[in-house]
Amino acid sequence: MFPASRMRRLRQPKIRDMVRETELTNNDLIYPLFVSEVDTKPVEIESMPGQFRYPLSRIADEAKAVTELGIPAIILFGIPSHKDEVGSSAYDPNGVIQKAVTAIKDELGDELLVITDVCLCEYMTHGHCGIVENGKILNDPTLEILGKTAANHAQAGADIVAPSGMMDGMVDAIRTALDDGGFQDTLIMSYAVKYASSFFAPFREAAESGYAFGDRTTYQMDPANSEEALREASLDLDEGADIIMVKPALPYLDIIYRIKTELGVPTAAYSVSGEYAMLKAASQKGWLDEKAVIMESLLAIKRAGADMILTYFAKDAAEWLR
Ligand code: PBG
Ligand code: ZN
Repeated sequence: MFPASRMRRLRQPKIRDMVRETELTNNDLIYPLFVSEVDTKPVEIESMPGQFRYPLSRIADEAKAVTELGIPAIILFGIPSHKDEVGSSAYDPNGVIQKAVTAIKDELGDELLVITDVCLCEYMTHGHCGIVENGKILNDPTLEILGKTAANHAQAGADIVAPSGMMDGMVDAIRTALDDGGFQDTLIMSYAVKYASSFFAPFREAAESGYAFGDRTTYQMDPANSEEALREASLDLDEGADIIMVKPALPYLDIIYRIKTELGVPTAAYSVSGEYAMLKAASQKGWLDEKAVIMESLLAIKRAGADMILTYFAKDAAEWLR
């Protein structure tokens, strides 16, 4: 009790650093990259200043720059030139992601972990994450396509596949397809706990994955729910997921905390496009100190329990951590 106890003693210079409980490092960072089959030069994303869609011809160079900053992993999103009703470009052996992974692995090999987002929305004319029939997003017919796509990414050299479509059974379908293809060492990072969030808006501009009708509430989670997050994660672990992702990150720190403390599994958090846009816009207006709010936000996500953070700020953070 006061005056014997004084919390401020531990906040004095040097000792403050020594009692710090959480530290952010390069090894916590995953950088999302957009690779495009339609662009011929890097195109800046309007609602994400400082982030670009890279043409295939430039993707390996960009991946190299990321590696040189000491970032251990990237996650790739593809913008294909052809879209249809079955997402056929997603599992085309000559698809944009397959070509990008090959180019990056040729250049960097084991120096960089390559994660691929496995979903169909960017490859579908209607922009939904599954097969659509009579205005409904069908679960089971989507699974086979996801399995095929994931095996295909592994064949191209992906180290980790990350299914993001929130279809039930997607991890099982992908694990089976990977094992059948001889890719038993390819990891699955499941977007197990993905909320139907309005913070994804800038991403949909970036990846051209806006949907033609409806919304994603019949497959992505209700932001009001927390128990459901544990059920989702547990099911995906049973199906063979190696890493559980929570998305978005900042508005869902309680969920990250529960997944990590109650399940004790490798946990990733995706600080999404809208989180980037908020901090970036306020910083550009001079209303926030950019470096300070970025580093504080990343630290908070780590403190909540994330072992790794997917963030569009990865390059800035890596630079500042040096
Ligand atoms: C596609 C996908 C989305 C994001 C990652 N994968 C968009 C969505 O589900 O609508 C969002 C990423 C971000 O906002 O940064 N399934
Ligand atoms: Zn999707």
